Amino acid sequence: MNQIVELFRKITTGVYVVGVAHDGARDAFTATSLVQVSYRPLLLALAINPKHASYPLLRDSGTWTVNILRAGELELARRFGTPPASGSDKLAGSDWGVGRLGAPILKGASAYFDCRLVSEVSAGDHQVVIGKVIGGSVFAQGFEPLLYAATGNLDQSASLFPSSFESP
Ligand SMILES: Cc1cc2nc3c(=O)[nH]c(=O)nc-3n(C[C@H](O)[C@H](O)[C@H](O)COP(=O)(O)O)c2cc1C
Repeated sequence: MNQIVELFRKITTGVYVVGVAHDGARDAFTATSLVQVSYRPLLLALAINPKHASYPLLRDSGTWTVNILRAGELELARRFGTPPASGSDKLAGSDWGVGRLGAPILKGASAYFDCRLVSEVSAGDHQVVIGKVIGGSVFAQGFEPLLYAATGNLDQSASLFPSSFESP
């Protein structure tokens, strides 16, 4: 692991399944780049790779859910964080509810937020979408969240980092 990868892996984040739906299509993907950025209103910022199949559904519907994974749920992180076998539906095999604006809620998650898009900004190879939290619930009290550090290189991001810092 190069020094830059090691440095960035010290940033503490959780692991979430982001649910999206638009025009009869649904998708969900594992995300770690999520942070609360405002209290009043409650806002969450999420970095999403615009190449993901979920991105147009998120952008066009203007809504998404953030389903919080608990410690040990690496299998869910893997299922929603890697491409499905061709033709198979990633969402099949889990129970889903529906958020206030139509995004899917992962019923087996320990808690979720329901978000409505308020702004979006391009940030390098990702889009940062900012969502107002319009709902949510805790299903399992006192759970320990799954930490990104516990997922190792499940997202295969080690190869995405530059090998040295760019000159200022
Ligand atoms: C632990 C983990 C964290 C991830 N974090 C993010 C993230 O914050 N943002 C993102 O755009 N993709 C992230 N990914 C990658 C997507 O989950 C993955 O590319 C997924 O297959 C995209 O699904 P889709 O094409 O069906 O939308 C992460 C993957 C894993 C395994």
